[in-house]
Amino acid sequence: MSQTGFFISFEGSEGCGKSTQIRQLIEDLRRMGQEPVLVREPGGTPIGEHIRHLLQHAPEGDTLTPEAELLLFAAGPRLPDVTFLLDIDPEAGFERLRRRAQPEAKRDRMEEEPLAFYEAVRQGYLAAAAAEPDRIHVLDASQPESEVAGQIRAELQRRSHVFLQGSRV
Ligand SMILES: Nc1ncnc2c1ncn2[C@@H]1O[C@H](COP(=O)(O)OP(=O)(O)O)[C@@H](O)[C@H]1O
Ligand SMILES: [Mg+2]
Repeated sequence: MSQTGFFISFEGSEGCGKSTQIRQLIEDLRRMGQEPVLVREPGGTPIGEHIRHLLQHAPEGDTLTPEAELLLFAAGPRLPDVTFLLDIDPEAGFERLRRRAQPEAKRDRMEEEPLAFYEAVRQGYLAAAAAEPDRIHVLDASQPESEVAGQIRAELQRRSHVFLQGSRV
């Protein structure tokens, strides 16, 4: 880690590959002598956690319109240096999750939403990225894992010479 630290966040709908890419990036960073700290995804901040809880468990959450939930989602992450938006067709993401055979018990309120909700969330993410192109980098998450990983590394190198100086992530 550089002295000031560098906050990278990952966003995107279920099954887009956040956990997979984060795991790989942490491994690579450690291998090159960095000391990455993983904060919980998504959010990782008190506000993000509150929103996460509200969306998943709070009974009041049921009264939120999809649009309101979308705004809350966008308010979740706080001030990362770069956010990778792993963009994928929600159906393709769910298909991945089905293949992974998620335990029934793990299903929460969010998984009961109609597909249209996730389409709206996807468009919300893309709109946020369009509004903040310097911070949010959109990747096509339907590509093979290694392809996505390579694009993440290229973007990190492009954005942060100090952070990754001399390294070959
Ligand atoms: N680029 C990819 N192509 C195909 N399958 C992938 C890809 N990235 C992740 N997966 C698989 O899809 C499933 C969901 O990935 P995961 O990283 O858990 O997504 P998320 O954390 O965003 O929900 C896992 O089984 C993972 O192995
Ligand atoms: Mg995950």
